Amino acid sequence: MVSYCAPSTEHILIVRGLRAQETKRPSSPPPFDTPQTPLLLSRAHEDVQLPSDFGMSRTGQLTPTGMDIRQYLERKREEVDQYLHSVIPSAETIPTTLHESMRYSLFAGGKRVRPILAIAAAEAVGTAGQAVLPVASSLELIHTYSLIHDDLPSMDNDDFRRGKPTNHKVYGEAMAILAGDALLTMAFELCIRANAEHGLDAARQVRLIQELAVGSGNLGMVGGQVLDIQAENQDIDLATLQSIHKHKTGMLIRAAVRMGAITAGATPAQLDDLTFYAEQIGLAFQIADDVLNVTGTREELGKNPNTDAQRGKKTYPTFYGVEGAKQLAEECVTRANDRLTSFGTKADPLRELARYITSRKN
Ligand code: IPE
Ligand code: IPE
Ligand code: MG
Ligand code: MG
Repeated sequence: MVSYCAPSTEHILIVRGLRAQETKRPSSPPPFDTPQTPLLLSRAHEDVQLPSDFGMSRTGQLTPTGMDIRQYLERKREEVDQYLHSVIPSAETIPTTLHESMRYSLFAGGKRVRPILAIAAAEAVGTAGQAVLPVASSLELIHTYSLIHDDLPSMDNDDFRRGKPTNHKVYGEAMAILAGDALLTMAFELCIRANAEHGLDAARQVRLIQELAVGSGNLGMVGGQVLDIQAENQDIDLATLQSIHKHKTGMLIRAAVRMGAITAGATPAQLDDLTFYAEQIGLAFQIADDVLNVTGTREELGKNPNTDAQRGKKTYPTFYGVEGAKQLAEECVTRANDRLTSFGTKADPLRELARYITSRKN
């Protein structure tokens, strides 16, 4: 059945998961949802060759859809950056340190994957006009806030992010927390800027705000971060790991795709297809992040590698090895793209984004 707002299942799953963690019985039966994609498990150990192009195609090289994804990413990133520059207060605006700190992390060179996914989803549906930029940019504010807080000493205690010292290393913990809070709050204001002037009625605005709240909050990204921290140094099973990934990374990516689609006026059936696509690439994105944590260098990643192992975190490479994890991510991408048929060539950017997510080097 097609539904507009599907957070209810997520609610039940994550609440069940959190309760299970509170009882501190990590090795009892899987506390979270069972994997929705048993294919992952059953095919994990098959001897399947990775595609020979498991590295991103360079500018000018043909991709399976024939589009130049690097150029597309670059163009969209510039549009998002330009919009963000136009709305984020200057570093001279009082309170100056707060704005400096917000700008420091926001303009440190993020890939802008979530806003670009929102834009590409809108393009797959039709056109979303001017409204798509504030909507897409709101996701980057949430994402950047989540990274600032994720790096804090009380969380992952990381020193580098986006190729620079982490926010708290430069501005101190109090300012980093507050810069994150301000970015989070401002994200909702950006959603409200996508208003009637941009062709969005109030009902659609409310839907967007709900998507953003669900994707980023206690039953979305924040909930996933809690599960992630609770899993440190625990002998978690695969179902638990999958639930962590689904929430800490997947839910915001899901919100990005759905918000782009809603902005462009997606039908319920289109939204259903795009939601499936988003859930698959969300998992692929975090599996790729796990792999890069093992295989990447600090120069490539802009953050320290090998931190998962140092923190006693079980990840996809722990369960399947690096090559097995890469293969699983590829399978997610195939499943995601198989669901885009009805959109025709308008979904080519989404198809290439899915491939980019697993072939990226940072
Ligand atoms: C990194 O996200 C953190 C995860 C959720 C896995 P990105 O890889 O999108 O980071 P930036 O925004 O490009 O720095
Ligand atoms: C970050 O996850 C996820 C969010 C901020 C929601 P990780 O902690 O695994 O990612 P990195 O390695 O710090 O980017
Ligand atoms: Mg973390
Ligand atoms: Mg981290």
